[in-house]
Amino acid sequence: MAYQAKLRVWRGDATSGELQDFEVEANEGEVVLDLIHRLQATQTPDLAVRWNCKAGKCGSCSAEVNGRPKLLCMTRMSTFDEDEVITVTPMRTFPVIRDLVTDVSYNYEKAREIPSFTPPEGLEPGEYRMQQVDVERSQEFRKCIECFLCQDTCHVIRDHEENKESFAGPRFLMRVAELEMHPLDDADRVEAVQSAHGLGFCNITKCCTEVCPEGIHITDNALIPMKERVADRRYDPIVWLGNKIFKR
Ligand code: SF4
Ligand code: F3S
Ligand code: FES
Repeated sequence: MAYQAKLRVWRGDATSGELQDFEVEANEGEVVLDLIHRLQATQTPDLAVRWNCKAGKCGSCSAEVNGRPKLLCMTRMSTFDEDEVITVTPMRTFPVIRDLVTDVSYNYEKAREIPSFTPPEGLEPGEYRMQQVDVERSQEFRKCIECFLCQDTCHVIRDHEENKESFAGPRFLMRVAELEMHPLDDADRVEAVQSAHGLGFCNITKCCTEVCPEGIHITDNALIPMKERVADRRYDPIVWLGNKIFKR
């Protein structure tokens, strides 16, 4: 049954903004993005919102619903009471461009800082061979849709703008882990993950894992194993000696 939902939407730009209240028709089976689109179509034609697939796969519609990082297209209206005020705001960690759209270029800068996959010299693409167990390990990380909700929620940069320069954030620390665990990657990433990408800032709060719409175990499967490798490299004398002799 259709009803009038109460939406409170942040409207503004980089200089200023405010929360504005609206009543928008909601129908059975709809998600928050449906209501934002109806609001655009009927009351606020200039409302800015980024979206693309409406299927939880492009990672474009990231925002905050009642203060929690969410994909607007995957947040069902049925999870709220009909008389509840639903507050929709842009991701807090990134600068606002307009309304619900933020400038996520920080993430692209961090992506560029990670040296790409480095196979052994002379190995041709058709000669790559991997164990299934190694394929499965990186497969989980490759489910990432780059919605940047994990980046938005991590307190290291959410509450500390000054950390952005030295911290890559969970999504990109996970990318380093994926490459480090790849049996054909020859680059040594253990030192850099701590010094260049800021793994030491992460204190394993797991908030990134909680908000990941793909259900990736970012903390347990990527960040903690990388921390263990850093600790082994720095503090285990046998590993240290082995690394000196065998280079990895
Ligand atoms: Fe989004 Fe998860 Fe990828 Fe982070 S790891 S960008 S939360 S899909
Ligand atoms: Fe941040 Fe995730 Fe670590 S939220 S502190 S990167 S466990
Ligand atoms: Fe693509 Fe929401 S519109 S993930």
